[in-house]
Amino acid sequence: MIHKLALIGFGNVGQGFAEILRDKATHLQDNLGLEVQIVAVSDLLKGALYQPTGLDVATLLEVVKQTGKLTDYPNSVGLKRDWDSLKTIRESNADTIVEVSYTDINSGQPAIDHCRAAFEHGKNAVMSNKGPVALAYAELSALAKEKGVRFCFEGTVMSGTPAIRMPLMALVGNDIREVRGIFNGTTNYILTEMESGLDYATALQQAQSLGYAEADPTADVEGYDALGKVVILANVIMNVPLTKNEVTCLGISHLTLADIQQAKSEGKRWKLIGRVKKESGSVVATVAPEMLPLTDPLANVMGATNAITYDCDLSGPITLIGAGAGQTETGFAILIDLINIVRGNV
Ligand code: HSE
Repeated sequence: MIHKLALIGFGNVGQGFAEILRDKATHLQDNLGLEVQIVAVSDLLKGALYQPTGLDVATLLEVVKQTGKLTDYPNSVGLKRDWDSLKTIRESNADTIVEVSYTDINSGQPAIDHCRAAFEHGKNAVMSNKGPVALAYAELSALAKEKGVRFCFEGTVMSGTPAIRMPLMALVGNDIREVRGIFNGTTNYILTEMESGLDYATALQQAQSLGYAEADPTADVEGYDALGKVVILANVIMNVPLTKNEVTCLGISHLTLADIQQAKSEGKRWKLIGRVKKESGSVVATVAPEMLPLTDPLANVMGATNAITYDCDLSGPITLIGAGAGQTETGFAILIDLINIVRGNV
């Protein structure tokens, strides 16, 4: 059976996911029996399309590459170009809404309303957008459950590295007492490049051109993006109803080349560390740069790569290292959520 998708947002991640569908359609169908169709795309800047019988993914990608506008997609019978995101979510024949619009970590909007509309209309929601999970996890997960649909967000933390599904599936039964990690690719990339002598502004520019940074990179460099991920991990992995205002947050924008060199001369390295720790009945959550000794496994995680250590009561500490950002990597996170929805897995 064909699984129909509506993409809300068609930036880096949306296009990365569409490229995977274009390039791996035969593999997905032959090996996993997964047949996926994009019926709608709605993007604030690029325009909107709805074709209930399915859009051609290669053409979608090509017109956006050529002109930057979805409106240049060729006409066909039944094609609509004037639906906004909420109409698309409510009225399209999509089974699943793919929420890959920009993250607003302060309000979570309009993505939270997109999720509410999807669930109210019996549709699953899959996302890399951190807003809904970081700010409205309890409400949205309860609503999805009540409506019998799925709320999946593997791509919100460490892109396609399974920082969420792995502990939920494979570490189940443990009490996870602490998570600690590098949760932002942009800042880790900047710190890595600064160690080689590049100045902060140029390193940030490179991270932006490589597609790692948020639309507004303030969220990366001031730690708000990592903060969102810390809140998600606390709620989803550790079952702690942490809110963003309970996390102490400091970014890396104040670090200078001299600070980086100073750490190097002491055999240490600055890393932006996110942490949630259960401590005698309460929880401490922080995002802050830390000068780690090179013997710490997190000190050797370089570039846009992320890492997380789960401190588990039964299995002991387990560390996962992998991509933390990137077009294909985050596109893959969307794909893996979809495969698990279709299979009925977590
Ligand atoms: N801007 C984020 C980062 C993207 O650099 O890690 C992935 O959430």
